[in-house]
Amino acid sequence: MQGMDQDIDHILVSEEQLRQKVAELGAQISRDYEGCDLLMVSILKGGAVFMADLMRTVTIPCAIDFMVVSSYGGANTESTGLVKIVKDLDADLSGKDVLIVEDILDTGITLSNLLPMLRLRNPNSVRLCTILSKPSRRKADIEPDYLGFEVPDEFVVGYGLDFDEKYRNLPYVGVLKPEIYTR
Ligand code: IMP
Ligand code: MG
Repeated sequence: MQGMDQDIDHILVSEEQLRQKVAELGAQISRDYEGCDLLMVSILKGGAVFMADLMRTVTIPCAIDFMVVSSYGGANTESTGLVKIVKDLDADLSGKDVLIVEDILDTGITLSNLLPMLRLRNPNSVRLCTILSKPSRRKADIEPDYLGFEVPDEFVVGYGLDFDEKYRNLPYVGVLKPEIYTR
């Protein structure tokens, strides 16, 4: 048996940095949504780890829900940008203050298509909170309302983010060794 740590080239965001930032975001969200009907929505699977931590730093009442989306057309995703809802929310959004909690904003194509679909359901508001962002990769006109860390254009894993469904359980965000991709 070998640890996952050995597959990591270097750490980008440490466990302590994540804990500190998540606490700051939770405090900010608690202030901003005071008196609101807050519904935190995680997009599975990547957003689940962040949401589990974030919700415990939020001190106002809130509900949670989950959604699974996939992009039409596989490799064509970036050209069409169509999003299919594989598992929809259970909650009725009317009057709710919806906060989408995601792992990373990369090209932004998925969320820039999903958010307008959710806005059609008469929520009071829809905002976006991501723990990571790769601004240099952006193709759609969308930015997080709440952001943890900007990262360079490198493939990162950990804290919910996977490579081939692995490494989601790493407690930090790191860059994989190149040999892991190519073997
Ligand atoms: P986009 O913003 O529509 O391009 O898609 C974002 C999704 O791509 C994220 O929710 C992740 O699942 C995945 N993704 C983007 N960059 C990375 C990465 O560096 N590591 C792992 N998954 C990533
Ligand atoms: Mg994802």
